Amino acid sequence: MIKSASAIAHPNIAFIKYWGNRDDSLRLPANGSISMNLGGLFTKTRVTFRDDLRADVLTIGGKEVTGAALDRVSAFMDHVRLLAPEARYAEIVSENNFPMGAGIASSAAAFSALALAASAAAGMNLKENELSRLARLGSGSACRSIPDGFCEWAYGSGDEDSWAVSIAPASHWALTDLIALISAEHKKTGSSAGHTAALTSPFQPERVRTAPERIKKCRDAILNKDFATLAEVSESDMIMMHSVMMTQKPPLFYWEPTSIRLIKAVRDWREEGLPCFATLDAGPNVHVICPSEVMDEVQQKMKKISGISDILVSAPGGKAHLV
Ligand code: DP6
Repeated sequence: MIKSASAIAHPNIAFIKYWGNRDDSLRLPANGSISMNLGGLFTKTRVTFRDDLRADVLTIGGKEVTGAALDRVSAFMDHVRLLAPEARYAEIVSENNFPMGAGIASSAAAFSALALAASAAAGMNLKENELSRLARLGSGSACRSIPDGFCEWAYGSGDEDSWAVSIAPASHWALTDLIALISAEHKKTGSSAGHTAALTSPFQPERVRTAPERIKKCRDAILNKDFATLAEVSESDMIMMHSVMMTQKPPLFYWEPTSIRLIKAVRDWREEGLPCFATLDAGPNVHVICPSEVMDEVQQKMKKISGISDILVSAPGGKAHLV
């Protein structure tokens, strides 16, 4: 019997960042994190368990994928097979509606869509927190793409309860994320390798120690729609994470010259009274977050900065869902 299911999930942008694990294989985070799902951008994945397969087969954007990417997906599928239980291998067909290789963190959307499609295809009807926990095993940030809107992944006590919950739905606050695509001179080191070396930075323990204060500030700012506080705490948290990255061994420099030009420009615009702030994940792209009513003005200013190849526009997105 063929069992198949398809799911859609959005990527997310973290306001309070996840960096470093207390358990790398279980992806138990060193600190809690908060993010916003990116509506309009999505990954759609179909999973079909088949009798005739001797290994999992993965296609992304019409191209068959092998090597490390397939190994990671297969290791994740083993978790699903154990949980279901379902012994067969699967055909996994995935597509992103945002440019691949543009450096948009795609693992969050990829593993949240895969967790939902694979668990449904295997006949399970997991609750949201179980699904978020499962997605976490594929990619930490993926657990935050399962629930709706603005999501918090709490530190948790262990594997059993380390999942994300929605702190406010997508409709709660009309924010815009203007994502400036900036090409990197060098191929980036992926987050998984980066997380494992976080503790080689002398600043990581201090970042982790002070994370709960920033989490609270950020959660309250979202609940109260207090943009000034959200901007201040998110920008500061982003700079702290990149300070850790730059002081790890080996150091990770994700900022490109255009990234730093934009980070500084955004700070100037904010000082001049335009509400906006910049945040970056493990790559050179700059996410400029602003209230939607000023998005045209912010975008016009961004267009004058040289080195930006494109700007993607996103509003808060909903939960991962079956299609
Ligand atoms: C910098 O979730 O991509 O984007 O669990 O190894 O897949 P893995 O890491 P990942 O790490 C994301 C790190 C970040 C910050 C964040 O999204 O919180």
